[in-house]
Amino acid sequence: MTMKHDNKKYIAMLGNNDEHLVHNPANNQHFDAILQATVHRRLVLKGGLGAMVATLFAPLTLTGCNDDDDSITHTAKPNETTAGNNDMGLLGFKAVPISTADTAVVPEGYATQVIAEWGRSISTPDLRYDLPFNNAEQQLDAIGSHHDGMHFFPIEGNSPDHGSSKEGLLVINHEYIEPRYMHHSAVGQALSRDDFPIYQQDAQNLRRSEDVLTELYGHGVSVIKIQQQADGQWQVSADKLNRRITGLTVMEISGPVRGSDWVKTKYSPDGTKTRGTLNNCSHGVTPWNTYLTCEENWAGYFRNRAQKTDDQPREHQRYGVTYDVSRYGWELADTPGEQEAYARFNAAPTGPDATSDYRNEPNCFGWVVEFDPFDPNSVPVKHSQLGRFAHEGVIFHPAIEGQPLVCYSGDDAMNEYIYKFISAEPYYKATASGHLLDQGTLYVAKFNADGSGEWLPLVWGQGPLQPTLDTNETADCPCFKDQADVLVNTRLAADRVGATKMDRPEWGAIDPKTGRVYFTLTNNASRGSDNSPIDTANPRPNNRWGHIIRWTEASNDPKATQFNWDIFILAGPQDDSDFANKSLDEQQIFNSPDGLWFDPEGRLWIQTDTSESLMNRGDYAQFGNNQMLACDTQHQILRRFFTGPIGQEITGVTATPDQKNMFINVQHPGATLSTDDFASGNLAGKGNWPLGGNNYARSATVVITKNDGGVIGS
Ligand code: FEO
Ligand code: CA
Ligand code: CA
Repeated sequence: MTMKHDNKKYIAMLGNNDEHLVHNPANNQHFDAILQATVHRRLVLKGGLGAMVATLFAPLTLTGCNDDDDSITHTAKPNETTAGNNDMGLLGFKAVPISTADTAVVPEGYATQVIAEWGRSISTPDLRYDLPFNNAEQQLDAIGSHHDGMHFFPIEGNSPDHGSSKEGLLVINHEYIEPRYMHHSAVGQALSRDDFPIYQQDAQNLRRSEDVLTELYGHGVSVIKIQQQADGQWQVSADKLNRRITGLTVMEISGPVRGSDWVKTKYSPDGTKTRGTLNNCSHGVTPWNTYLTCEENWAGYFRNRAQKTDDQPREHQRYGVTYDVSRYGWELADTPGEQEAYARFNAAPTGPDATSDYRNEPNCFGWVVEFDPFDPNSVPVKHSQLGRFAHEGVIFHPAIEGQPLVCYSGDDAMNEYIYKFISAEPYYKATASGHLLDQGTLYVAKFNADGSGEWLPLVWGQGPLQPTLDTNETADCPCFKDQADVLVNTRLAADRVGATKMDRPEWGAIDPKTGRVYFTLTNNASRGSDNSPIDTANPRPNNRWGHIIRWTEASNDPKATQFNWDIFILAGPQDDSDFANKSLDEQQIFNSPDGLWFDPEGRLWIQTDTSESLMNRGDYAQFGNNQMLACDTQHQILRRFFTGPIGQEITGVTATPDQKNMFINVQHPGATLSTDDFASGNLAGKGNWPLGGNNYARSATVVITKNDGGVIGS
């Protein structure tokens, strides 16, 4: 027997992690932007303003010399393509065609190896646990599910980018889970991954606590030692540094929110601690060699049924904490869990004050979390000064001795914002640590119609972020009682200062040659609505395909508060796209850009996340399975490098320091398996990567090497 839900559409969105619904009712749209948007779009498409900005800020940019015209067959087999070419520039491989095959495809001259599959033991890496798990302890001992952002830390532990290219710690985020693949209780049941029900409940509408615990352990981060063997293959090794961080790991809260009323709970009455990190999407790497894991779609994991959605406190409502039912129903566990570890996902007030219940538990999520992968006992820290929102990832400008540290983070939901942080203290290599992230200024981006932009400070007492005697908690309250309030309610503060609503900001990347910052804007079905009119930076109504925006800080100074921007690529099919004043061709078409990374030589790697509910259907069929492309931004060459198996998204990219081993993640392969096929066990041929046969698909890492031992992409 299952619960009745009147919010089926919402649950459907939860299942495939497309939890990017509109929670922004603010009207901070600038009329000049609206009026000029249509004109600007025409300019962008014709290379007018975009080209002007590019010329001003990228003196190395050459005139377009697009890809060669060799025809590409759509029937190529995996790994089948022709030899590299003689193009100028950074890309020396031949594009791969789109693919609908249940396999990973790389250009000719390259090879792949699958490592670090979900369920591989971290204590005994020769063991890969069968699915479903027999108990929660197996998942705790195993690599988590739904791999996302990651980094290869050379084993010396001195630098995130220098050291061994044969041995290191691979640190992998696990974004979410697919409950039906995890539990024996699910076998034979009509469970979906993208529509209710997605998990089993008993006659009392409760969930097995062991299942809930398994799911909490499936989330978080894996730290695994990996080594290249004599034959060139990579293996996960047993090591004392191997570690799982999960939805239950004890964490500190730092920065202005630490100790504030916003994060006082029954578990931590002084508001200094919390448990777990959830929905860890992309990541960041600090100059002092620690890892940042980012909490993205955490809001739906909580339920606050005490008030109807419209009456929830603003720190719940503005983020989408659910009224009806939480994403995985953890609060429905048949025991409350140790110290109410499962019951805490009910964020309704149940006691006389906040230290007697978990009304503030959602305020403990939405942060950037730091830990040292080389210290297995390090307590992760949630850095509140970086803001609370649906953090996709964090990207740093290269640290400069004696200068402030600068980083960016996108809030991935429809009509949310792009943020920048500038540390208060200067960076010094000898003393750098997480304290730099606890004091400084958080800014939010305003993209002006003329190609200029401003970073607007989110500082209590400045501009419209004024204190008030009336701290009533309504969504449209313009007032903030302190800086902790500004940070817990980062989205509302950004609304108030007049930030530009964006088309779902995902990853950022910084060109090592020019310092220019690129951000993916994956798509936005609501663009063009009354609440989200088109503007110059988000120029397409019902933005189905997404685009990539870029900017250069004034005087190319990372700490500047002014910038100049242009649109780099309008993604999409051949008849609705633009790159270097041309439509994308057959070797280039893609949609929903998500993962983004510059390698040290300046190749821009672009990963796609077409929703599995759209993939290979209708207009989306022409794009095939999700893919990764490489771009030489200087020579304006773009080419498809990789296509993944059925149902997945490609996300996460890192490499060994010599750039000869690239690691990328295949997340949620087999996601299109139907409810009926799951119930009947009819799995074969429905998406079974990487094991094949009748196996459940597993997220995993793919190692890409070049057969001649060269740099990937060269
Ligand atoms: Fe987890 Fe916005 O991707
Ligand atoms: Ca993403
Ligand atoms: Ca995405």
